[in-house]
Amino acid sequence: MDFFCGLGLSVAIDLNIPGYFFFTSGAGCLASFLTLPAIHKNTDKSLKDLNTLLSIPGVPPIPSSDMPKPVLVRNDKAYECFLENSTQFLKSAGIIVNTFESLESRAIRAISDGLCLPEDVPTPPIFCIGPLIFAHNQRGGGNDDVSLGLFTKEQLGEIAAGLERSDQRFLWVVRNPPSHNQSVAIAGQVDPDLDYLLPDGFLDRTKDRGLIVKSWAPQVAVLNHDSLGGFVSHCGWNSVLEAVCAGVPIVSWPLYAEQRFNRVILVEEIKIALPMNESLDGFVNATEVEKRVRELMDSEKGESIRKRTKALKSEANAALSEAGTSWIALTKLVESWNQG
Ligand SMILES: *[C@@H]1O[C@H](CO)[C@@H](O)[C@H](O)[C@H]1NC(C)=O
Ligand SMILES: *[C@@H]1O[C@H](CO)[C@@H](O)[C@H](O)[C@H]1NC(C)=O
Ligand SMILES: *[C@@H]1O[C@H](CO)[C@@H](O)[C@H](O)[C@H]1NC(C)=O
Ligand SMILES: *[C@@H]1O[C@H](CO)[C@@H](O)[C@H](O)[C@H]1NC(C)=O
Repeated sequence: MDFFCGLGLSVAIDLNIPGYFFFTSGAGCLASFLTLPAIHKNTDKSLKDLNTLLSIPGVPPIPSSDMPKPVLVRNDKAYECFLENSTQFLKSAGIIVNTFESLESRAIRAISDGLCLPEDVPTPPIFCIGPLIFAHNQRGGGNDDVSLGLFTKEQLGEIAAGLERSDQRFLWVVRNPPSHNQSVAIAGQVDPDLDYLLPDGFLDRTKDRGLIVKSWAPQVAVLNHDSLGGFVSHCGWNSVLEAVCAGVPIVSWPLYAEQRFNRVILVEEIKIALPMNESLDGFVNATEVEKRVRELMDSEKGESIRKRTKALKSEANAALSEAGTSWIALTKLVESWNQG
């Protein structure tokens, strides 16, 4: 089961069936969930107000406000649920993680060595069997399309200006801004009106080096195209793995869920991303867009994360191939069932 079905584990236990979690984010994020009860005990403030660096085994110091969104506000129902469910892990027969050894070796080791839990609490075995990604993404509906990850017209304008000034070639997927009209939002499929949403003359001025795609693009196919030099991503873990498998470096612009946490991991630890520096309310101006796009495409730093991402692409392939770390982890898991 995944994290959101934590209660299912008690049913498995009642029936005497070994229950496993499948953790769909990275090992660094898992380390933070395992450590959450200890963090909770050490303060009575909300993480969003704590204004400190959290020390979580196996990951770089994490600004408390960069923890996964649902655990930022202490009195929130979501916080209670996450806290409660993060202890469910401990009763499982094992945790299967969508990551691979050489991507997050420090976090994986810290968890396996039991460093994320109190000394007297055993850590269930973890099985890093990733990267698992869809070979072809399909255009789907789902909540994601309704309300998350949408930019206002004002924000779209800043992105446009930044891209224009960056002098780089680009492919940009533009979606409609959030709508107050639920029926439009749910229909969601109305394509954006680019002439209305983007700055005057932008399309014309960039037509030789920019391609705007309305609403949706096949991300995996695009990432694997030879012409691609970089990817501005919200850093959902699936997108991160898709970029790694394609060997494409990232500019990290987190929006929700555990994406701010992922940014720290990608920038500080794995070193395959540059941070987009948003203001306190999440707004990113044209200057920042221009700066980061240029930095990614045309700087030593950009080149160094590009090299590192390409190396990780080979390591991802190696992990999945016969006798690779993920292959071995999956084999161990299956063998443990045969011995049962
Ligand atoms: C966690 O547990 C609560 C009840 O204890 C449940 O309602 C919720 O769906 C579970 N999952 C998450 C992610 O909160
Ligand atoms: C919402 O959008 C739908 C579909 O375009 C339209 O029929 C309806 O009148 C709108 N409602 C409001 C309150 O604007
Ligand atoms: C991010 O922006 C703030 C101001 O908005 C600035 O003080 C800070 O130095 C910037 N950080 C980086 C890494 O550029
Ligand atoms: C743009 O954003 C950056 C990063 O947040 C900030 O440092 C800078 O002052 C902003 N520039 C303008 C003109 O607002």
